[in-house]
Amino acid sequence: MNHPTGLALVTGASTGIGYELAQRCAEDGYDLLIVADEPEIHEAADRIRAKGASVVAAELDLSTEDGVFALLQHIKRPVDLLLANAGRGLGHTFLDQDIPEIRRVIDTNITGTILLVHAIGNHMRRQRGGRILLTGSIAGFMPGSYQAVYNATKAFVDSFSWALRDELKNTGITVTCLMPGPTDTAFFDRAEMLDTDVGQDDGKDDPAEVAKLGYEAMMAGEAGVVTGLSNKVQAALAHVMPKGMLARQHRKMAKPHDE
Ligand SMILES: NC(=O)c1ccc[n+]([C@@H]2O[C@H](COP(=O)([O-])OP(=O)(O)OC[C@H]3O[C@@H](n4cnc5c(N)ncnc54)[C@H](OP(=O)(O)O)[C@@H]3O)[C@@H](O)[C@H]2O)c1
Repeated sequence: MNHPTGLALVTGASTGIGYELAQRCAEDGYDLLIVADEPEIHEAADRIRAKGASVVAAELDLSTEDGVFALLQHIKRPVDLLLANAGRGLGHTFLDQDIPEIRRVIDTNITGTILLVHAIGNHMRRQRGGRILLTGSIAGFMPGSYQAVYNATKAFVDSFSWALRDELKNTGITVTCLMPGPTDTAFFDRAEMLDTDVGQDDGKDDPAEVAKLGYEAMMAGEAGVVTGLSNKVQAALAHVMPKGMLARQHRKMAKPHDE
């Protein structure tokens, strides 16, 4: 199905899941506004443009209010799809993490996401329709020893998504939460988690497959999708296992080998 006039805004689209989400939108006929914090976003735009899509790229830091407001200035027409996917992790014990890095995780995953969804959500309400996909995580279901702040931010995103969806029912706006498990992207390198079991796991999910499932769930107006069978099992167990046991399990995955 083609949507020749539709606009999709995808954040964190330079690499990984966000890049693949942007490709799915382009294949479906959407024009794209894609955003990330580093110059790679322009190379990502060139690659998607080469396949015939209309793409505008913005290099902006969405962990800051200025970055989010600058992004809003780029928007010249109604946004039909908002895929709020930009996010970053941070490994090691909480007390060993640097405060600026901690703030960057919170400000990217929560504050920047909220500011953007608030602005675009209000546009969508005025235009009486739209689709929002938030990239949460199965990490949001479990206390994340050795990645404590990140998991807590994803608990926020997962929860926020369900609440927003409920508030917006009957408005023509759908809200969907994409909840991947460990996925084979630059995430673990950027989070300084390569020296961990999860960082070195060869069985991570394919970001293209994760994005496909997220995109399809959004277009079907579903509430959420946990990608992959083992993640579905883990998510189901997380709802019944004691929090202390979940934290211990997470420690095994995320503790650096030299600690
Ligand atoms: N990989 C996993 O195992 C996994 C599992 C569950 C959920 N997720 C979530 O999936 C989303 C995408 O992650 P990924 O795995 O695809 O990792 P990734 O390849 O590192 O992609 C992260 C994207 O977010 C962008 N980004 C990060 N901070 C930003 C900021 N302050 N402003 C603007 N853009 C920013 C990055 O761009 P720059 O490089 O330009 O900063 C990049 O485009 C994240 O929300 C992550 O939490 C990942």
